[in-house]
Amino acid sequence: MADNNIVTWHSSYSVGIPLIDEQHKELINLTNKLFTSCIQGKESSKVIFMRTIRGTVDYVGYHFGTEEKVMERINYPGLPSHKKEHTDFVKEVLHEVEEFKNGKKFTPISFVHYLKDWVLTHIAVTDKLMGDYILNMKRTGAINKVKLKVKAVTHTEEDANDPTKVNTSKRFVIE
Ligand SMILES: [Fe+2]
Repeated sequence: MADNNIVTWHSSYSVGIPLIDEQHKELINLTNKLFTSCIQGKESSKVIFMRTIRGTVDYVGYHFGTEEKVMERINYPGLPSHKKEHTDFVKEVLHEVEEFKNGKKFTPISFVHYLKDWVLTHIAVTDKLMGDYILNMKRTGAINKVKLKVKAVTHTEEDANDPTKVNTSKRFVIE
């Protein structure tokens, strides 16, 4: 289904931290899912789009939480501005989702392009700075590794469209 992808992971996107890279790959995956639901043009794609947006918002929150935890652990000086970028993005996305729900001016395809551009720029500039800082700390021996214990937990929630269905997914919790 490579033809249906709006963005493909490339090794140059790596920030040098496997945990963060894996999460970025998932964000790219979700962006592609949203894109696919846009170009299908079926009535059902609207439902899929809404469901994927919800999943994306959840995942973005979890991912930003991971990055912020890492930055806190190493006393990263760029934390306040990095965090602000995250907060502003979440605000914008939630605003867009509201517009969509209320049937206001909302173009799914423009939203997907905005999402893709933001994610790629944020990874290439802001996350890269964070990654370089961590790699430099490792090089100079300031830290051996960023100590983060990531625990997998099973998350279940009722399906919004089908009350008889329960969705189960694996989430990761940072300790
Ligand atoms: Fe970030």
